[in-house]
Amino acid sequence: MEKFVIHGGKKLHGRVQVSGAKNSALALMPATLLNAGRNQLDNIPEVNDIYTMVKLLSSLGVQSDFTDHVLTLDTSNVRNQTAPYEHVKKMRASVYVLGPLVSRFGYAKVSLPGGCAWGPRPINLHLEAMKKLGAEIRIEEGYVIAKANRLRGAKIHFDISSVGATGNAMMAACLAEGNTLISNAAIEPEISLLAEYLVKMGAKINGVGTTSLEIEGVNYLQPAEIVNIDDRIEAATILVAGAITKSKIEIDYKNHEHIKSILIKLEESGVNLFYDKTLIIIDASSLRPSNIDISTSVYPGFPTDMQAQWTAYMATAEGTSKIVDTIYHDRFSHVPELNRLGANIEILNNSVVVTGVSLLKGAKVMSTDLRASASLVLAGLAASGTTEVLRIYHIDRGYQRIEEKLKALGADIERVKTTEY
Ligand code: EPU
Repeated sequence: MEKFVIHGGKKLHGRVQVSGAKNSALALMPATLLNAGRNQLDNIPEVNDIYTMVKLLSSLGVQSDFTDHVLTLDTSNVRNQTAPYEHVKKMRASVYVLGPLVSRFGYAKVSLPGGCAWGPRPINLHLEAMKKLGAEIRIEEGYVIAKANRLRGAKIHFDISSVGATGNAMMAACLAEGNTLISNAAIEPEISLLAEYLVKMGAKINGVGTTSLEIEGVNYLQPAEIVNIDDRIEAATILVAGAITKSKIEIDYKNHEHIKSILIKLEESGVNLFYDKTLIIIDASSLRPSNIDISTSVYPGFPTDMQAQWTAYMATAEGTSKIVDTIYHDRFSHVPELNRLGANIEILNNSVVVTGVSLLKGAKVMSTDLRASASLVLAGLAASGTTEVLRIYHIDRGYQRIEEKLKALGADIERVKTTEY
């Protein structure tokens, strides 16, 4: 086991490069199952969720090479269509293989993901979409079994906007016979990039970037290459590291429009921002941040994946703020841990009320999931004294060696081996 030991209260300075996006990579990788040949994905982050997806794809027969953030996936010899529990239980994004497998091979057997650290997270929308496309779906011994001779284009309306279900339905529809119309489709940048990649393979998709996707099925797709976008949640997390430590830092990041909702809230909290096509500079004053409410929502709203980090930031603000998570109503496992650092946060249904304190104080805390861990690291950077963050395997799922980036900015943070759990 490893933990982070953080000596907080240091100002940060300097510039770091944001890594490639985890969540888009996790959609691009299974999309390669739709063709037979050598695909190349550039700017892929070295994080554990990517290694889990590589292992899952390897178990299906995909040959891979991952060097210097370039991932090649050769899908010429896919011989197995079963995604086993051992991979799916580690990472829910494994369910992304369902659409491509049933669409290309007419069969997929994918373990049901089960619960998640902050609630049920069902996959009913994925399954309903596959049924609409003509797949026969059975649930047997904890597995979804999908069968179809060839999928048929259909009208799919999502009652709830879902990133994963949109991605799965879009991938499946590319090789279906006839036209598919997906309404209330997710418009997250990761989904637009996935659509762009499918088009490079030869898919016919209209309406990319809107909530209505029209897909004309084709008979086959060819291997393709794409450059992944940078990780918007990592970018925003590092900016909050600058804000919470009242520092001036810079990030190399090419898509400031992807984090507009966060940049606006940061400015409202009192920091100065400068951004252009490749760079964001944050200059936080020495004053305490203002209390700024947020309510998470689908893109382009404030992302649920930044809710925990914003809660940590507001824990240091002047005044009281209300933070509502409309996407995941129970995603608050970071709250008791932040309170161990001296924060004053109360959970009320799907929201928290944060009464800012003048200084957080270092303590031993425990990561419970990826974004919760990030919030604890941010709080530790701002706190006086020493903070130890246990179970950092959660943060390694989605942030590429975050401590190295923070150290490059002058933070006092070390990864240390431990027997503590
Ligand atoms: N939902 C259903 N049924 C479904 C699918 C989703 O009810 O079949 C609900 C969910 O419970 C949730 C809402 O729809 O309330 C939206 O969930 P969505 O399907 O959009 O989430 P996801 O695709 O499973 C992705 C990200 C998450 C991120 C969410 C929301 C990936 C691999 N994961 O999950 O990222 O929180 O979208 O933006 O893209 C993270 O990176 O920390 C993370 C959890």
